[in-house]
Amino acid sequence: MPRASFRYSSRTRILRALGLLFGLILLIDTLSLLTTYHRLTSSPAPPPPLPTDQRIFIASIHWNNAAILNAHWSAALLELVTQLGPQNVYVSIYESGSWDDTKDALRRLDAELEKLGVARTVTLDTVTHAEHIANAPSLDSPPSPGWLTTTTTSISPSGQKETIKKNELRRIPYLATLRNRSLAPLFFNDTTTTPKFDKLLFLNDVTFTSSLISLLLSTRDGDYAAACSLDFSHPPHYYDTFALRDFAFSPTTSSVFPYFGARESRRAMLRGEPVPVRSCWNGVVVFDASPFYVEGGGLGFRGVEDGLAERHVEGSECCLVHVDNPLSGTRGVWVNPKVRVGYSVEAGEEVRSERWLGGVGGLVGGVWRERMGRVAGGWKRWSDQRKVRGRVEAWKREGMALGEERREEGVGCLIDEMQVLRENGWAHV
Ligand SMILES: *[C@@H]1O[C@H](CO)[C@@H](O)[C@H](O)[C@H]1NC(C)=O
Ligand SMILES: *[C@@H]1O[C@H](CO)[C@@H](O)[C@H](O)[C@H]1NC(C)=O
Repeated sequence: MPRASFRYSSRTRILRALGLLFGLILLIDTLSLLTTYHRLTSSPAPPPPLPTDQRIFIASIHWNNAAILNAHWSAALLELVTQLGPQNVYVSIYESGSWDDTKDALRRLDAELEKLGVARTVTLDTVTHAEHIANAPSLDSPPSPGWLTTTTTSISPSGQKETIKKNELRRIPYLATLRNRSLAPLFFNDTTTTPKFDKLLFLNDVTFTSSLISLLLSTRDGDYAAACSLDFSHPPHYYDTFALRDFAFSPTTSSVFPYFGARESRRAMLRGEPVPVRSCWNGVVVFDASPFYVEGGGLGFRGVEDGLAERHVEGSECCLVHVDNPLSGTRGVWVNPKVRVGYSVEAGEEVRSERWLGGVGGLVGGVWRERMGRVAGGWKRWSDQRKVRGRVEAWKREGMALGEERREEGVGCLIDEMQVLRENGWAHV
């Protein structure tokens, strides 16, 4: 049967050609990933010197951080302020409610900063989470800002279903208040007579170094609304998913390199260049200070409205600040992939070394994982966002019926969670 065999052999040929083409694409792809690996792990050029002509306001908040303070943070801060020049910096530390050695560690740091002649505020606030919780407004009183009524059901010993209502303190407005307090010294002096700060540098409880901060400050030659590091607790997985949003204002598609679904963000990450994003925090972040100085309430930290939180919607104060920042649109928010910090000394050492991608296998596997995650997770991400958007819309409609105009510009920051403070930390409810 000549026709059938002709068909058979032409089909084989087409299949073979397709297979060859596919193999070729795979080969080119793999070669380009190897180049990427080489680029991202070769020793970087030495960081630029730290600027000594800029005024930098360094802020941090602390809770039970003694381990990292003693092992790394305090010494790193002292080195940083020495290199920046004690006359060019202000250090603002706000600690609250720690029950480990944090307060002592910060007292020691305060004394060292004094020796260097660094202007500073170190606040050790004794109010613990437990005390905040004990001060919960009663259920009959009108709603208090930052508090939510939560309902839990449990089965009593007699087998009865019991509903327990209580007022709980929202974690995010609480953190936003602490961050605002860490910024208070910005306004201690009359800014018409005292030079303003050029940059605000926020340091989490991470393993930063002076050269990393130097790299971060010089991101895009200093042209940014904000620039962030990448943070790791268990490398190669990055840590702070709550604050990081790609250039399409979507959560990352993968916890490992190259993280981002949005093309603009992912391509920059693969090139090892500053990554345009809509929000980041991730360990260390530097802001252009000007929006924080606006007369009568400049930029600051906030949570979403309590009415939204009641609908089981939450967003990080570290994401919303970029939404509220008028400079974000013009100067951009960037992740600098060369600036990688850890929440422990080990994690920090690993991600600063060429092992941060977990070897060639880690990189190639990660790239494929992100590709699959982008496709496979697409529907879930879409439905998650739809759920949250639906709640925001319902909240707005409810306001309309009451004649209120309700707004939330940071919908991209929001997730389907409710977070409240607990004695030993915080919890999802
Ligand atoms: C305010 O001015 C005093 C005196 O010049 C200075 O020591 C202090 O550091 C200034 N504070 C800030 C936040 O700039
Ligand atoms: C923090 O400060 C900003 C700016 O003053 C303000 O808009 C915001 O409401 C404050 N946040 C909280 C939680 O009080």
